[in-house]
Amino acid sequence: MKLGKRRANRPALLSKTEKFMVSPSQRKGPLVRAIRNLSMFLRPGKKDDASRSGSQTAQTGAVSTATGNGSGQSSVPKHLAVIMDGNGRWAKGRHLPRSAGHRAGAENLKVLCRNCGNAGVRYLTVYAFSTENWARPESEIQALMELFVEFFERYDPELAQEGIRVRFSGDIGALPENIREVCKRAEENSIGRDRMDLIIAMNYGGRHEIVQACRKIADQVSRGLMKPEDIQEETIRENLYLPDVPDPDLIIRPSGEQRMSNFLLWEGAYAELWFSNTLWPDFGLSELQDAFRAYSLRDRRFGGLSEE
Ligand code: FPP
Repeated sequence: MKLGKRRANRPALLSKTEKFMVSPSQRKGPLVRAIRNLSMFLRPGKKDDASRSGSQTAQTGAVSTATGNGSGQSSVPKHLAVIMDGNGRWAKGRHLPRSAGHRAGAENLKVLCRNCGNAGVRYLTVYAFSTENWARPESEIQALMELFVEFFERYDPELAQEGIRVRFSGDIGALPENIREVCKRAEENSIGRDRMDLIIAMNYGGRHEIVQACRKIADQVSRGLMKPEDIQEETIRENLYLPDVPDPDLIIRPSGEQRMSNFLLWEGAYAELWFSNTLWPDFGLSELQDAFRAYSLRDRRFGGLSEE
């Protein structure tokens, strides 16, 4: 039975709930989705300066056309999220300090931005520093913060050229003042760019994000602006860090680990997951293509049934 028909027979309450559970691409007709599938990946990528860091091994350029599963699933996720894991092991394998791994990881983030922009990804979220990462040695935290400042000093002109807007997700207010300044400047400088949003999850924890949303809602309730029974899933969503950003469609974790590590716990409820053994600094174009290919074959049902 066709999805439209099934929907018509459902009680009104379910149809209302569906509004929030069905992705925009699902709501579009199959023809629109097919056209989107054909046109994706076709923007040519510029050759990247892979030798800049001397350690950059990731490939760059255009992402080749991926196939779909015939059910209208887009080949390119609108919102891709990446856990940039494996920097430490990458460095260890080369007898380098962990900070060298993070540096190579930051270089690879720049490559990923370009590849995702070329592929037509609209939102790219990367896990740069978690609320749990404060447990690392002071020297490593310091190196990560310095790298973070350097990244924007060095690469903002390139991000501008690529039309990439920079946004942050996380407890930014609790970061050192110089880092808060960098975040503010990067956001303000990039506000008019509209090809892709690069969202840096910085001092981010999924549980912390939900707690701060609950606090904001509890405050509204305590001031009599809302009743407890008015709280819906949408109320939580509206109080997350970036309520206008759609849920991630695909979450990638390289480095052989297969867990979420407190990343996008609310937003990722229906995300497709893809894991790779490649360490983050080596995660290049071919891995991205593999992930997108696998994604295009997934049958996303959002708790419902397939269209067939
Ligand atoms: C996890 O790998 C990675 C991090 C905690 C840091 C990620 C940060 C970057 C890639 C660069 C900085 C970001 C920006 C925005 C410039 P790990 O060190 O835990 O790796 P391991 O599991 O091999 O030890």
